[in-house]
Amino acid sequence: MNKDKWSRREFLGTSAVAAGASLAPKSFFTLPRAVPPSDRVRFGMIGVGMQGHGLLGESITLPGVECAAACDLYDGRHTLAREIVRPDLPVTRRYQELLDNKDIDCIVAAVPDHWHKQVVVDAVSAGKDIYCEKPMSHSPADGVAMVEAGKRTGRIIQIGSQRVSSQICAKAKELISQGTLGDLMLVEGWLGRNDPNGAWEYPPPPDLSPKNLDWDTWQGTVPKRAFDPNIFARWRCWKEYGTGVAGDLLVHLVSGMMFMVGVNAPPKQASAVGGIRRWKDGRNMPDVHAVVYDYDGLPVYMRLNLGTEMPETYRIQGSKGILEVTGSSLSFTPQSGKDQYPSYYTGSYPRALRDAYLAKWHQENDPKTGQPVAMPETMSFTGPDFDDVRPHLWTYFEAVRTRKPVTEDVVFGHNAALACHMANESYFRKTSVSWDEASKTIRGS
Ligand SMILES: NC(=O)c1ccc[n+]([C@@H]2O[C@H](COP(=O)([O-])OP(=O)(O)OC[C@H]3O[C@@H](n4cnc5c(N)ncnc54)[C@H](O)[C@@H]3O)[C@@H](O)[C@H]2O)c1
Repeated sequence: MNKDKWSRREFLGTSAVAAGASLAPKSFFTLPRAVPPSDRVRFGMIGVGMQGHGLLGESITLPGVECAAACDLYDGRHTLAREIVRPDLPVTRRYQELLDNKDIDCIVAAVPDHWHKQVVVDAVSAGKDIYCEKPMSHSPADGVAMVEAGKRTGRIIQIGSQRVSSQICAKAKELISQGTLGDLMLVEGWLGRNDPNGAWEYPPPPDLSPKNLDWDTWQGTVPKRAFDPNIFARWRCWKEYGTGVAGDLLVHLVSGMMFMVGVNAPPKQASAVGGIRRWKDGRNMPDVHAVVYDYDGLPVYMRLNLGTEMPETYRIQGSKGILEVTGSSLSFTPQSGKDQYPSYYTGSYPRALRDAYLAKWHQENDPKTGQPVAMPETMSFTGPDFDDVRPHLWTYFEAVRTRKPVTEDVVFGHNAALACHMANESYFRKTSVSWDEASKTIRGS
């Protein structure tokens, strides 16, 4: 599978079930762990849509993990959950029933962004751990409330930006922390798509109606609209429900960058530009969005584009070379940081001065006869072609069992989401913005 397909599969999360079992890295899915019955984790699934059905199918193939019930507001997804798990799986439209069920240890939630905060706060308040999809929050205030609920209850909260469980990102992290890149200078990341599905123009289920969907509850606390199947399927296009390309795609790039570089804070500043350049279908979120961040002095430049296909890539630039990271491979090209040739500036010297400079330079720098010439080594790693959703879920269920803290916890998730909210705020306000920790708000600068 090429990088491009990897990117799409990762971001859409649609084929986790089909792809996971055969493609996941051995270290994660062939764990020969015999799980005693008492050690089984029983989870409740909330949201069985495009991402949720993949998480559900993947989770039930993990050793010692079992689905006890599923919840969705659309009855067609009750049928789907039963097709995935078992025909008599308990299903409901009310997630509170899962939270009240003492046989359920924890929750996996894949609801649209505007529902994340309420589901997470309700779940941890009911004593359940929760895996919640990315972006963690729909707004900075939602994120603050979620961090507070996580601290108050001590429950495990893991957010679903699976880059932190990627073997390739882990290898990059190792190289960076060993100083292989020298001093970090700048990080770039990008992703592009060029087709209607990639731009979220999904086909709504043909039978969808207010009879089989609780449309009123689906809308949550946002201003109510008449039933609209396109909003149900394409909610990412509107800020009332989604978080734009920032929350949908940039959040993966930011989370991966934070993990690899070892940052766990919001950016100091963000400045973004973009527009609705390609998909003029009534959406109110940009389809092209470029943002420059200041991460405590480290410039991070990210580009998202729904009008031109570009495989997801990071280019991490350091004083000792460039590390390029894609879905299943990375390569490091070293740079000596020293002059390889005499300075071209000396072409402006009169001949005598130039000749003297050149003679000295060659004497000091030319390889000595009989001595080995330094040959910088390019490093490259190619991982198995895998889906990092599976190890990410495994980390979560292990944390539920062992209470071991997870990397992508509520604070990490909040910091990553803040970067996305700052990108959106900067785009809409047409000015650079910063995060003010004292007031916990985004400020224009
Ligand atoms: N990690 C990834 O790579 C990845 C990929 C795709 C989507 N996602 C995330 O997953 C989440 C869901 O996205 P999706 O594409 O699956 O959306 P979707 O619209 O396909 O599915 C969401 C489901 O949640 C249900 N739902 C909504 N509110 C609910 C509520 N209050 N109670 C119960 N069910 C409710 C809806 O009826 C729907 O079936 C989003 O946050 C998205 O960003 C993550």
